[in-house]
Amino acid sequence: MENQQKLIHTFGALAELGYEVAHKRNFQEMIRTSLHLLLGSLAIMRGGVARYSRFGHELNMLVMRGLGEDFPLSLSLCYEDERQFLTNGLAPIEVAQAKVLPFFQIYDRSFEKKRIDLLLPLVIRDEIVGVIMLGEKANGESYSAYDKDIICAMARHIGVGIAQRNLTAELERRAEENRKLYDDLRHTYKDTVKAFATAIDCKDKYTEGHSVRVGKYSEIIAHELGFDENEIEGVAVAGYLHDVGKLTVERNIINSPVRINAKESAELNKHPAVGYEILLPIHHPYTDVPLAAKYHHERLDGRGYPDGLHDREIPYVAKIVNLADSFDAMTTDRPYKRRRPVNEVIEDLQRNSGKQFAPELVTAFFRGMLKELTGETKDKRFRKLLGREYMEAEGIVPMLKDALNGMSPTSSLTLVSLD
Ligand SMILES: [Fe+2]
Repeated sequence: MENQQKLIHTFGALAELGYEVAHKRNFQEMIRTSLHLLLGSLAIMRGGVARYSRFGHELNMLVMRGLGEDFPLSLSLCYEDERQFLTNGLAPIEVAQAKVLPFFQIYDRSFEKKRIDLLLPLVIRDEIVGVIMLGEKANGESYSAYDKDIICAMARHIGVGIAQRNLTAELERRAEENRKLYDDLRHTYKDTVKAFATAIDCKDKYTEGHSVRVGKYSEIIAHELGFDENEIEGVAVAGYLHDVGKLTVERNIINSPVRINAKESAELNKHPAVGYEILLPIHHPYTDVPLAAKYHHERLDGRGYPDGLHDREIPYVAKIVNLADSFDAMTTDRPYKRRRPVNEVIEDLQRNSGKQFAPELVTAFFRGMLKELTGETKDKRFRKLLGREYMEAEGIVPMLKDALNGMSPTSSLTLVSLD
């Protein structure tokens, strides 16, 4: 009868233990509860659970009950101990019978003082994950075979809990490592892209910094459109690299101080297609980078080049880069033309919205500009790229507001079927 009650009690404890192992998020708490359940269900006075560190070859106490402050918190295992524990497996070792092992010789005094009777190596899938130490039973009796069975069953749960925790920790470590590697790669990619942009810009002495600025304007537009972080970065990269095809165009054509002739113009106009060829074999973390290079001179009305595409045939990123590119061309000095004042530029973008530029992109761009001028955003992106005086010209804020009020967010062309 007494045995049966004990059995029921133990099964209850076991069920709870299983629940603990499966559900407790806090590992330390799980081990503490497990030890208390184990000690409580068999009326054991003292005990402790240690986790094994494979690297340090030591047992580190996770929880202790009734062992006092002078009990060692860390216990070393030598090779011989490890081997013996592994051979022993998950079964109780009577401390009194195991004195031949170095481990028990070293810690003999501590064990004796606290009357540690049983030691249970937590061997899970042929690996030591920890050890449970148990003191004497409250009634002074020695451990029965039945007690030992129960201890083993409960110890297995605790051992699996520790093994799972080790696995999770290892996975987290690897995930962190992976993340760092990925970040490194990403940085390398960004640096390479910027180096490339600088190289492209070097070739053209009159438009110094053009690619870098187009990258930044493209980024502003994407940001205003509510793109996510990755997409914004992709659009910026497309801007940085859009003119990469110019690397193959003769320097004297690019740097011509006067307007170039038709033949030279035809040569220059090959740069989008060449850029596409250059960028296509590169594996970009973002799509459409090569397409943006190929189609950044297309216009919504079909009067662009190289393919004379119409509105919806033009990749979206190419439309963004086109706007950024044109904006930079208008706002920087060229050999045969001074830059135009900002009010003229705004008028031009407005007038050509729906013809050259996608209206929703122009409004996004204006919105970004307005936010900066009214202080809604603290970024001074436009002012940094264009100079404070230029951007803060009289009447720009009302002009932008008017433009935004008067513009339809979609172009009439987007409503026309092209089939
Ligand atoms: Fe271009």
